[in-house]
Amino acid sequence: MDKVIAIDGPSASGKSTLARNLSEALHIPYINTGSMFRATAWAAARRNIAWDDEKALENMLRTLTMEYRQSAAGDFELFCDDTFPGEELRSTEIAAGASKVGTLLSVRAELKRLQQQMSKIGWIVMEGRDIGTVIFPEAQFKFFVTASPMERARRRLAQEGDKAGGSLEEVAAAIAERDRQDSTRAVAPLKPAEDAELVDNSNMTYEETFNYIYNKVKDAVL
Ligand code: C5P
Repeated sequence: MDKVIAIDGPSASGKSTLARNLSEALHIPYINTGSMFRATAWAAARRNIAWDDEKALENMLRTLTMEYRQSAAGDFELFCDDTFPGEELRSTEIAAGASKVGTLLSVRAELKRLQQQMSKIGWIVMEGRDIGTVIFPEAQFKFFVTASPMERARRRLAQEGDKAGGSLEEVAAAIAERDRQDSTRAVAPLKPAEDAELVDNSNMTYEETFNYIYNKVKDAVL
C-alpha cells in the first residue's frame, strides 16, 4: 500500500480546499495534480508549442523540471524549471490548455511518472481526477469528493461572482457538461475507483466534510 491520501472528484466539489487543509492538519505535502497539467500548458505556450503537438509536449516534459516547494507561509507551490508561475496558472486560457494537454496519452504518462515519484519520501495528500484509479491504485486512502451540479454552481458563483460565467442555471449546465466530457473521455476518465469512498457533500458543510475525512485518516498518518 502506498502512503497516499487520494482525493479525486470533479471541479468545484471543494476538493482542493479539503486537500490543502488536510495537508496542513497532518503536516504532510500537498500535491495538486491539476497544477501540473496547467504548468504543462503554460510551459508549452512559452515555448510556442501547440497544445495538441503530442511529440513536442512529450519532449518538453522529458527535460522540464516540476517540483513542489513549501513557501514560508507553508503552502506547497509548483516550480517549473526554477520559475514560479503562480497566478498565471489560474487563468481560464491556461485551464482550457490543461484540459487539452490532459487528453494526450504521452503527456499523462510523463506526468504519471513524476507524480509517482512524489510519494517516495512519506505520506502525501494528492488531489486530481485519476489518482485513485491510475496514479496510485494502491493508495491507502481513496476519497471521491463530489456534490450535485447545482450545489457546485452555487459555490462557484459565491466564490467567483460575475467571473463564474452566467446565472445559477447556466453555470450548473456548464458544470454538468464538463462532468460529462471528463467522465466519458477515453484516457483516464473521471470516475471513482472501485474501492474509493464516495463523499457527496451536497448537504454537508465544509467543516463536516473535512472532519469526516480527517477522522478517517488521522490515526494512520499522525
Ligand atoms: O483541477 P484543475 O482545474 O486545476 O485541473 C485542470 C485540468 O487538468 C482539468 O480540467 C483536467 O482536464 C486536467 N486534469 C486531469 N487529471 C488530473 C488533474 C487535472 O486530467 N489528475
